[in-house]
Amino acid sequence: MSTFPTRRPRRLRGTPALRRLAAETTLVPAQLVLPVFVKEGATAAVPIASMPGVSQHPLDALPAVVEAAAAAGLGGIMLFGVPAVRDATGTGAVEPDGILNQAITVARDAAAGRLTVQADLCLDEFTDHGHCGVLAEDGTVDNDATLEIYAQMGVAQARAGADVLGLSGMMDGQVAAVRAALDDAGFAHVVILAYAAKYASAFYGPFRDAVESTLQGDRRTYQLDPGNGREGVEEALLDIAEGADVVMVKPTGPYLDVLARVADVSSVPVWAYQVSGEYALIEHAASAGLIDRERAIGETLLGIRRAGAEAILTYWAIEVAQWLRDGK
Ligand code: PBG
Repeated sequence: MSTFPTRRPRRLRGTPALRRLAAETTLVPAQLVLPVFVKEGATAAVPIASMPGVSQHPLDALPAVVEAAAAAGLGGIMLFGVPAVRDATGTGAVEPDGILNQAITVARDAAAGRLTVQADLCLDEFTDHGHCGVLAEDGTVDNDATLEIYAQMGVAQARAGADVLGLSGMMDGQVAAVRAALDDAGFAHVVILAYAAKYASAFYGPFRDAVESTLQGDRRTYQLDPGNGREGVEEALLDIAEGADVVMVKPTGPYLDVLARVADVSSVPVWAYQVSGEYALIEHAASAGLIDRERAIGETLLGIRRAGAEAILTYWAIEVAQWLRDGK
């Protein structure tokens, strides 16, 4: 005699061991990448007020950060440079002794192959106007002139020792331009991570503090409109066609549908960037006593994995990797 209800999904939720066995989605430290800010001329770590727990690091403190990331078993670190001087064309981005290129070499030496060294390839930290590209006379961002600088920047980063270049500027044709330059310069092995679907988002707010951005206005002429999902998929497909080794969706929370759609059609790995504002929201809500911090963090990361990301850039990477090791 059958009893009602015949399907009882709660059965698999009855104990922690059953729930663990029934888990559809996993997270391991090797899937996490830590963004790291390196500030030229700093003599001590500079806390970033809008991102509690995150600092800008002096160059000579970078080996210790790399050591902590490697010890935690992370997949990599993503480096951002905060230069002391900026100019109209972002010269500091292409100079071998520019802060980001120096940081790449220091990190590469400290990492010694234990994790991947990744670098942000974009001009916004290096230009005095704060845009991701150079400006035309009318003040608009000049796509094709910017590509020439991205190509030089990519070669400089590869020469400095980066394993992965994170192309985050959202210029048309940037993947093809950087790929060709890398291949011509003997860096065919260097990986291109394309920030393929990067939305013009308010959630980058705290990051602008982190890199001391001078931007006036916004990035809506190059980053995606928040309402456009199909266009995000199209951007990913274009980047794959241009030779991207990995495509990324950014931010995560409001764009998990785009992430899932990209993951469905992508022939290359798909990563996601949990950005500064997503970090700050949880940190501030938790310190106000409004939310269980660790559960909230874990839930966002699992959600990103569930939506289809193979790896995640997150400011919580080291802490979460430690929880995972401790079996939390
Ligand atoms: C561009 C870049 C940005 C972020 C990563 N790369 C800033 C922007 O596009 O305005 C944002 C990351 C974050 O908010 O955590 N160099």
